[in-house]
Amino acid sequence: MANAKVSLGGRDILDIASLSVDEIELIMQTAGEMKKVLKRDIKKVPSLRGKSIITLFYENSTRTRTSFEIAGKYLGADVVNISASGSSVVKGECLRDTILTVQNMDCDAIIMRHPIEGAAKFAAEVAKPVIINAGDGAHAHPSQALLDLFTIREDGKKDLHGKKIAIVGDILYSRVARSNIAMWNKMGADVHVAGPMTLLPQCVEELGVTVHKRVEEALEGADVVDVLRIQLERQKNGLFPTTREYARIFGVNEKRLALAKPDVTLLHPGPMNRGLEISWEVGLCDNARIREEVNNGVATRMALEFLTIMGGKQVENID
Ligand code: NCD
Repeated sequence: MANAKVSLGGRDILDIASLSVDEIELIMQTAGEMKKVLKRDIKKVPSLRGKSIITLFYENSTRTRTSFEIAGKYLGADVVNISASGSSVVKGECLRDTILTVQNMDCDAIIMRHPIEGAAKFAAEVAKPVIINAGDGAHAHPSQALLDLFTIREDGKKDLHGKKIAIVGDILYSRVARSNIAMWNKMGADVHVAGPMTLLPQCVEELGVTVHKRVEEALEGADVVDVLRIQLERQKNGLFPTTREYARIFGVNEKRLALAKPDVTLLHPGPMNRGLEISWEVGLCDNARIREEVNNGVATRMALEFLTIMGGKQVENID
């Protein structure tokens, strides 16, 4: 049960480290209420009527941008999307000016994705509206970690203390890995990572994880397996010999997944490179909760928008 005194009103959501367990519980509880709204015939409540949200995306996105947008719309807010490629950024405008321009339209929140680590923090320093980090380079993707926690709990794993969670793939370039490691450590899980040595950050152990060279060791007895996309757009060449070799040595296939617990929760933030980091069969298997992650992404982002924009007003007000 969330602590009634906790409020995220006016707060920027930049990473998982700056959220307390009580604040995370409030987001989970609110996301649960939002999920009930999503199941209604008419998926619309007036909680954010008269409020405006701008999504400012400097990187491509399908699910994150759309789910923040539709989440705002289900809550009655006006939502406008800006993508860098169609904006004055291509005319040479700097990030600060773009953010201040957006702020001057009197929006209440800016949802921002940017290829550079720290961009959302910078935006929070220069702008008054709530800033929600929808991914900054390889640094953080807090809403993904929140929706993943919601999905794991919904799959029956309410208490993560002592649960083995394996994150496999491109840890080096993945903001999902960093945010999820932070989240699961905060929730008491036993976090393991595996991937090619070239795709593991230096001193990765200091993040509080057990590191494996072989993916099989990470998967053995795992309660949750989170497969990460190979971030081809961020990588320098030559970090692994070929995609075929990657799939052969590190790809999560049925044989490897069978090493995990029978009731393992299989996650992938998407988009999937099927046949590379994850086989077709595993992507479709009964344990996969990849579609649920997308659906829970909407509920979780509704919760984030509602809690940050509406401040102290608690969840009873969503009607
Ligand atoms: C993730 C991202 O953008 O970091 N995708 C997402 O938000 N659903 C993961 C990825 O692109 O691999």
